[in-house]
Amino acid sequence: MSNPATPGTARQQATRALLVKAGIMPVVTVESVAQAVAVASALARGGLKAIEVTLRTAVAMEALGVVKREVPEMLLGAGTVITPEQARAAVDKGADFLVTPGTPPALAAALSRLSLPVVPGAATASEIIALLHLGFDAIKLFPAQVVGGLGMIKSLAGPFPNLAICPTGGINESNAADFLRQPNVPCIGGSWMVAAEWVSAGRYDEIEASARRASQIIAAVAADRA
Ligand code: 3PG
Repeated sequence: MSNPATPGTARQQATRALLVKAGIMPVVTVESVAQAVAVASALARGGLKAIEVTLRTAVAMEALGVVKREVPEMLLGAGTVITPEQARAAVDKGADFLVTPGTPPALAAALSRLSLPVVPGAATASEIIALLHLGFDAIKLFPAQVVGGLGMIKSLAGPFPNLAICPTGGINESNAADFLRQPNVPCIGGSWMVAAEWVSAGRYDEIEASARRASQIIAAVAADRA
C-alpha cells in the first residue's frame, strides 16, 4: 500500500500524535463566526489543545478560516465531513485535520488520498476493517455510547490490537475518564464542554470552566498512565 494513510506513514503518525495531544476533543457547532472565535478562545483558555468545528451550519466553513487566523494555538479540525468536496474546502480553509461521523467507501477512498490527518468515523467491526484496508489505523467510534460504549471498545482491542479509537457520542464529564483510561483510546470527543445553551447565550465563562475541568481529566489520566 502506498497511500498516505498507510499505518506507520507520516500521516498516520501525525494523526495519532494529534489525538494524543488533544486528549479530549470538543465538538463544536456554531451559528456565527464570532461565536466560533469566542468558543475556540474559551476552550484554549481552559487548556484544551484542539477543536472540532462541525460542518453543520451555514457559517461553519467560513468559521474554520477565521478560527485558524484568530486562535492559531488550537489544532483545528473540521468535523461532520460527509463529502470529498467538504474535505477539500476545509483543507483550503486551513483545517489541520478532518473528522467524519461515518465513512462510506467513496468518502473513505477520497480521504485516503489526502495528506493531512483524518479521523474517519466507524460504528462496526466491518467498517473498521474497510478503513484499515485503506490504511486508517485511528478512527472515531460514533456514536460511541449507543453502539456499545466501553464494552465495545474493550472488545475491539482483541481483533484490532493496533487500532487507536476516539470514541465520541454520549460521553460527558462523569464518564470521560473511564473512556480515556482505555489503552486503545488516545482521545475522546464530545460536546459537553460546549453545550448549545452556553454557546447561544454567550456563556464563554462556562465553556472555559468546563474546558479546564476536561484538561484536569486529561492530566489525571496521563498521571495514572505514567
Ligand atoms: C459528534 O458529532 O461527534 C457528536 O455530536 C458529539 O456527540 P455528543 O454531543 O453526544 O458529545
